[in-house]
Amino acid sequence: MKPRVTPQDHAPAAMPASRRAAGASRVVLPEPLPLEARLDECLKRRRSTREYAEAPIPLQELSTLLWAAQGVTSPGGLRTAPSAGAIYPVKSYMLAFRVQGLAAGFYSFDPEQRTLTLLAKGTKQERVAKVCGDQQCVAECAAGLLLTAWYGRLRREFGDAAEQLALIEAGHIGQNWHLAAAALRLGSVSIGKIDPVALKLLLPLPEDEHPLYLLITGKP
Ligand SMILES: Cc1cc2nc3c(=O)[nH]c(=O)nc-3n(C[C@H](O)[C@H](O)[C@H](O)COP(=O)(O)O)c2cc1C
Repeated sequence: MKPRVTPQDHAPAAMPASRRAAGASRVVLPEPLPLEARLDECLKRRRSTREYAEAPIPLQELSTLLWAAQGVTSPGGLRTAPSAGAIYPVKSYMLAFRVQGLAAGFYSFDPEQRTLTLLAKGTKQERVAKVCGDQQCVAECAAGLLLTAWYGRLRREFGDAAEQLALIEAGHIGQNWHLAAAALRLGSVSIGKIDPVALKLLLPLPEDEHPLYLLITGKP
């Protein structure tokens, strides 16, 4: 599917003010680290990791994972991961549990500005783990990238295929996350067992976005 030149209506509805953290703070992420490991090595090394050390991960490593997953790599706004029609319906949120240099909390990630905006302070790690099938690895990880889909423009362009296209895109983003984690020698695993309704009750997500997929990481 070719990119289409369309009106700039990528953005989903803004988060209602009542659901944003009071005095929401914005964090400009440090430059991503160079990923110098060989691609064939990263492909071989990538393995789902479900046990994590207590040690936090450095903010620069998190920034590198986010860049790999959703980084903007062209002046026109195209990214590391492909997107049907270059619509980018998949939105990124960061659950920071133990990240050096970043207050624990729930953040939205803006790939164009490379910023995190705090939406809710503090960790709710046990509760997040509970709505992800009570999985121990979610209760132990240092951070997680929550991917949601905003179907508005995708549905207008591609009709009934919208949901499938968003899921495929989330898969691409996930593989980029895992390969970058392998390069940085971090552990990572995909979490598909999530309860989208419960997650929306727990986290301040926009009404018109649907949680799809969680990618977690931590020191192995
Ligand atoms: C879409 C998707 C959803 C997954 N969901 C979970 C999950 O909820 N919990 C989990 O521990 N692993 C999950 N996995 C990881 C798989 O169990 C894992 O990829 C598989 O066992 C193969 O092992 P490997 O990743 O080490 O190659 C998921 C993988 C994919 C692709």
